[in-house]
Amino acid sequence: MISRIAEIRSEAAAAIAAAGSSEELEGLRVRYLGRKAELPGVLRKISELPPEERGKVGGAANRARKELEELLGARAESLDASELDSKLAGDRLDVTLPGAPPHPVGHAHLVARTQRTIEDAMVGMGYTVAEGPEIEHDYYNFTALNHPPGHPARQLQDTFYVQSHPEVLLRTHTSPMQVRAMETQPPPIFVVVPGKVYRRDSDATHSPMFHQMEALAIAEGITLADLKGTLLTLARALFGETREVRLRPHYFPFTEPSVEVDVSCFQCEGTGALPDGSRCNICKGQGWIEILGAGMVDPNVLGFVEQYGYDAERVQGFAYGLGIERVAMLRHGVPDLRRFFDNDLRMLEQFA
Ligand code: DAH
Repeated sequence: MISRIAEIRSEAAAAIAAAGSSEELEGLRVRYLGRKAELPGVLRKISELPPEERGKVGGAANRARKELEELLGARAESLDASELDSKLAGDRLDVTLPGAPPHPVGHAHLVARTQRTIEDAMVGMGYTVAEGPEIEHDYYNFTALNHPPGHPARQLQDTFYVQSHPEVLLRTHTSPMQVRAMETQPPPIFVVVPGKVYRRDSDATHSPMFHQMEALAIAEGITLADLKGTLLTLARALFGETREVRLRPHYFPFTEPSVEVDVSCFQCEGTGALPDGSRCNICKGQGWIEILGAGMVDPNVLGFVEQYGYDAERVQGFAYGLGIERVAMLRHGVPDLRRFFDNDLRMLEQFA
């Protein structure tokens, strides 16, 4: 029995020394010191031995058990320490590595950027920027702009009406803000109004919703020459320093005289022809590109805001309205206006 105890002790001691993990060590503790293990069994059965052997066997078994417990404890401690070391080593962060690639940030839509470019040019000439409601009253959209009810020019701007309120509509242009702006401050006024407008239209150059920029300048002594100079500055800011503008007679109900404004073609420098002699595709060989409508504000319009200080005998001025998408299409060669609103990233990302 004594030699069996020594055998167990040395076998267990060797196994404990060789254990490679704390899990394995726990298995050895159960195997050699657990309830079903041989050595504790010897101790439990001491009383069954002949009295003269009990002391010796019991002493040897107790010593072996105590020794194994100590070996297990010591080995557990060193295994725990090395396991912690390797866990820490595995978890180590290399703070010198470059960071994760940053998520791309978005950018302003080309229409918004074009709007800001126009605003910048106008703010540079002393204008302020104002915005107005997209859901508008017939009064501001038409009547106060010298389109009385039944005026045929209303049909040129067929729009969306609110069925239960026939006097409420989606504005067809930013011009209603001319009147609203004049109601908020006496002359002189120099204001630009960017915003969404709505028409019953849809093709490659028309969309039911698009953006306009309105400009209004009212003060004493303003003439058509001021309009032309302002348009020249704007055209050069948008299309290049060598641009020229020309005014052609036109009709708008709220201006008199009214003009359509062309800018000299920035691709063919106004010649209508490309260096190889072929016809310029941007201006269609004309040398000029139509960019906006404008005119001197009709005294009838000022009549609607006379009580706000706009005496048509004393002040006068000009207005213009342009399509922001049209300017963006020309500047960037975008062939179809609807592409601005598809929200296809392949299109939008080209204008980062
Ligand atoms: N409101 C006009 C339109 O949408 C554009 C326009 C023409 C605006 C002449 C003006 C102007 O201010 O003077 O077709």
